[in-house]
This record gives sequence, structure tokens and C-alpha cells, in this order.
Amino acid sequence: ARPEALPRDLEGVRVVVSAGGTREPLDPVRYLGNRSSGKQGYALARVAAQRGAEVTLVTAHTVALPDPAGAAVEHVSTAEELRQAVHAASEAADVVVMAAAVADFRPANRAEHKIKKSDDQPDPVITLDRNADILAELVRNRRPGQVVVGFAAETGDEHGSVLDHARVKLKRKGADLLVVNAVGDGKAFGTEDNSGWLLGSDGTEIAIPLGAKAELASTLWDAVVRFMKR
Ligand code: CTP
Ligand code: CA
Repeated sequence: ARPEALPRDLEGVRVVVSAGGTREPLDPVRYLGNRSSGKQGYALARVAAQRGAEVTLVTAHTVALPDPAGAAVEHVSTAEELRQAVHAASEAADVVVMAAAVADFRPANRAEHKIKKSDDQPDPVITLDRNADILAELVRNRRPGQVVVGFAAETGDEHGSVLDHARVKLKRKGADLLVVNAVGDGKAFGTEDNSGWLLGSDGTEIAIPLGAKAELASTLWDAVVRFMKR
């Protein structure tokens, strides 16, 4: 939809969106990262601002994307930096959306100097430590009335469909809303299906048809507006 066609139903609502993929350094030149493009989070921030929200975008690494118009943008790199920035911004927020791909683990040691290969030393082994679960912390610290939204990418497998996994994850995460993107589906690996589900803790389940990331953003903000009205 063109911006002027969008409802102004988020006027005065303070929104925090996290986006992109975190990077966990191994040494000054290397990191463990992921393939998040950041496009979904940016679309969420842009659409929220177009609908009148006061938006803070906390973004880790993305493909080249312009800052969304009307949003305050904070750039971070590691999961721990994202965590600090999201918690600080969330204190005054009405809605927090965790669209970032947060590394579950970080290298236990960060070498001060570039790691060198050597013929008389054994090859290095990377040990990982668990990062804090930011979404779980947000749920734990949630103020009354604050809406917390999570994202997940799931595949169907022998234990159940995408929707089955999504229901379990929503329960486990304790979020108010969970957007689940269906990926892979055990078939043609690599062909990414952008359809999915939007699940609410009130039992609502909305199928998300294949479409642009701005369309998914609109569907999510519609659901958030309904959630805030309950
Ligand atoms: N998330 C988070 N902090 C982490 C990891 C994930 O806040 N350290 C958030 C993501 O931003 C996303 C949601 O949790 O909104 C779900 O992420 P996902 O990786 O699907 O869930 P995990 O609990 O990490 O489960 P899994 O073991 O399947 O990766
Ligand atoms: Ca994870």
C-alpha cells in the first residue's frame, strides 16, 4: 500500500524493532555471523513510522539498506550490544518486536590479535558460550500492557508441521505474538518460502500468504493494534 493509504492507527505508540544479524567476533578480523538481510525488520520499522508510531530501530548487520524514514536508528554489532540497546529502548516502549537474527552462541574467547595458522601448533578449536535470550528477558520484564513480538523460522519435520513447531515455540517463548516464517519444508532446500503464520497468545492463528515484507509488516501491525485494544 502507498504510505498515504495506510491508517494512522499507531499514532503516539512507542515501538522498538530489532533487525539484522549479529556478529560474534573471533579475533579482530573474523566473526561468526548469519545470513539475515535485515529487510523484514526495516520494513516493520518503516511501516510503523508510516502509520504514526514513534519508532526506534536497533539494527545489527544488514545488506545495504537506507535508514527507514522517521525512525531513530541505532547500529550495533554483537548480540550483547543488541541486548543492551533493545533493553534501554524498551523501557519506555509500548511494543517491542524482535525481528533480529540473534546469535545463540558467541566464541568463548576473543583473540586480541589475528589468529595465525602454524605448522607446529594444533589447529584451533572454537568453544562457544551461550548468549542471553533477549526475547525471554523482554517477556520476563514486560510492563503491564506492553506487547512483545517474536520471530521464528521453522521447517516441518517428522515431529510436526511448521504450525505445530510454531505453537510450541510461542508457548515456550511466552511472547504475545509470534511471526513464523516457513522455510525449507524438507523439500527443495535453499528455495525459501516466505509464507508463514502469525500466532497470538490469545489463540489467534493467521496464515500469512506469500508476499512482500511490507505486506507482512502491515499484517503484524494490524494484529498489534487489535492486541492493544483488547
Ligand atoms: N532471540 C533473542 N535472543 C536470542 C536468540 C533469539 O531475542 N539470544 C529471539 C529472536 O530475535 C526471535 C526469537 O528469539 O524473535 C526466536 O528465535 P529463534 O532462533 O527461532 O529461537 P530460539 O529460542 O533461539 O530457538 P532455536 O534453538 O530454534 O534457535
Ligand atoms: Ca536461535
